[in-house]
Amino acid sequence: MPFASQQMQSVASQQLSKSDTIKLRNKHIGQACQLFYRSDPLKIVRGQGQYMFDEEGTRYLDCINNVAHVGHCHPEVVRAGALQMATISTNNRFLHDELVQCARTLTSKMPAPLSVCFFVNSGSEANDLALRLARNYTKRLDVITLDHAYHGHLQSVMEISPYKFNQPGGEQKPEYVHVAPCPDIYGGQFTDKLHPNADLGALYAQPIADICERQQAKGQGVAAFIAESLQSCGGQILPPAGYFQAAYNAVHRAGGLCIADEVQVGFGRVGSHYWAFETQGVVPDIVSVAKPMGNGHPVGAVVTTPEIAQAFYDTGVAYFNTYGGNPVSCAIANAVMRIIDEEGLQQNAHQLGEYLLRECSQLKQEFECIGDVRGLGLFVGIELVSDREARMPDTKAAHWVVNRMKQLHKVLVSSDGPNDNVIKLKPPMCFNHENADEFLLAFRECLTTLTQEQLQQSAAAAAAAASSAVTTNGVIATAADTLANKTKMFERQDRLIKSV
Ligand SMILES: Cc1ncc(COP(=O)(O)O)c(C=O)c1O
Repeated sequence: MPFASQQMQSVASQQLSKSDTIKLRNKHIGQACQLFYRSDPLKIVRGQGQYMFDEEGTRYLDCINNVAHVGHCHPEVVRAGALQMATISTNNRFLHDELVQCARTLTSKMPAPLSVCFFVNSGSEANDLALRLARNYTKRLDVITLDHAYHGHLQSVMEISPYKFNQPGGEQKPEYVHVAPCPDIYGGQFTDKLHPNADLGALYAQPIADICERQQAKGQGVAAFIAESLQSCGGQILPPAGYFQAAYNAVHRAGGLCIADEVQVGFGRVGSHYWAFETQGVVPDIVSVAKPMGNGHPVGAVVTTPEIAQAFYDTGVAYFNTYGGNPVSCAIANAVMRIIDEEGLQQNAHQLGEYLLRECSQLKQEFECIGDVRGLGLFVGIELVSDREARMPDTKAAHWVVNRMKQLHKVLVSSDGPNDNVIKLKPPMCFNHENADEFLLAFRECLTTLTQEQLQQSAAAAAAAASSAVTTNGVIATAADTLANKTKMFERQDRLIKSV
């Protein structure tokens, strides 16, 4: 590793105390910027593989950074980026081999018609461009998106992100955006419990077909249907079999294009396939990729068919993106894709994912608070509930677990989903068996303690109810106070993490 000594010096020379860092951040960084563990944030000064280290050298097992795909500061990625930076970094209006090689490798991983790339700097930019391509090709405006979806922070993609615009202070949904239900068979509109023998894929695709029909009746059609191939912000959702086939067919019949957002779930994370859309046997018209592609460096891409790219060219308006496709970004993306293959990280995701799912399902047998365990590869969700039969989301429990995992066990997990009660795992792909066991041991401790706490709380509540029934004013206190304190303790656990 060429930089080892400078790297250690740079860590050692972090002069600010943590409290000064917090003060400066509070003063100069917009408060709207999300901060993990806001009441006790982490100051991370170094990363290596699946670990991050704070300013005191404490090691955290990282189960949430799907961006550091091949591992934090992978030496090959660092070397590729540094070498290219020391050689030339300019824009893609000049010929460069890293650019074309990156496009060749990326498209070689996709089904045949997806052979043309546009390089960008982020997932938001990728989805923004994907929308432009679709609107230009179809000459239509309307977009179908899924409930709870997040597609980025630019105005254009915030408008198709119910995850954001449905928040209390969110902006209003534009008329040209149509929201279809999130295909969540555990907690969504059509569940496997309420519809045990139904074709849930068809049921969830029907509202999309209905939107298409209404749009056609109005003579407007649709420009695009955009969806994450597995919805991460929705709470690690695996759509039911046949869903995307049926949805894509309906959209295509209405003359629209299908955009697969693989910003979180691409590059082998799902283990069985390189792209998550492949698990449903569909071929999108446009694919957006980013996050893992740069392993922490800002690079993304839109991949599409020659016809769609040609229509964009035919507008006569040239596409230029100053940093999109610069040689440094492309050298890094090339290194990432090479490492995924060389180190067998997709297979690793497959094997470890199966292990994690098996072990978490075992935990579900033991702990009533686990309502559902789902996932594919190293993309796993564990849904916590307060009533398993009623599938009642337990948001407080999820926050409590996230916080305790960090404070006590130094394991970083996050919570998400419409009720923020799904514990999410999407670690760097170099996560190993030992790491899985470390997570499982810590998680088991949390569930055990949580269950004990909850039992104590219900006992306290029962005692309070009983004593209030027989006691007059003034003496009721103890049991009720204990309960109130415990509730406050739960409430103090900030809304901790959203790992978008
Ligand atoms: C599914 C999905 N799409 C798009 C984006 C936007 O990517 P970026 O933050 O790189 O702009 C995100 C970011 O979290 C995402 O999760």
